[in-house]
Amino acid sequence: MLLAATRPLDAMIKAIGRAARAQDPAGAVAAAIGTHAADPALLAGAALAENPAHYCRHLLHEDAEAGWAVAALVWRPGQMSPVHAHRAWCAVGIHRGVLVESFYAAGEALVPSAVHLRRPGDISAAPADPALIHRLANLGCETAVSIHAYGLRFDRFCTDLNTIHAA
Ligand SMILES: [Fe+2]
Repeated sequence: MLLAATRPLDAMIKAIGRAARAQDPAGAVAAAIGTHAADPALLAGAALAENPAHYCRHLLHEDAEAGWAVAALVWRPGQMSPVHAHRAWCAVGIHRGVLVESFYAAGEALVPSAVHLRRPGDISAAPADPALIHRLANLGCETAVSIHAYGLRFDRFCTDLNTIHAA
């Protein structure tokens, strides 16, 4: 479901569209997201439903022709992504709450190698790289919301975006 646009959201989407054409789209798009991510009005009026079973992904904008899309992810306390790597470039910015991003060293067994707190306005980005393995988790006590852009059409997010290593 496409969410109602707001003016700050329009500005962010426009900036993402410009950045997505950069040589390093992940870094440029993350910077574009970071400029707007912590704005409390960014998602004003958007119906960001939560799901008690798993985090929720809500499409904010898609440029299917250029092959990228932006979504808001809503994380209840305790919800997390699988341990995964991306098959497309990705850029993330935190809107509300705090997420914990864990990275894993690839080897015979995946071992956590670094952990970062991601607070409102913080960003993270990565090119498509099977060796860049991470997990995002809401270990806080309040719902968190993050903005995610990927170099992939939205209808392929569920099938072609992630290489999953552990649920
Ligand atoms: Fe990811």
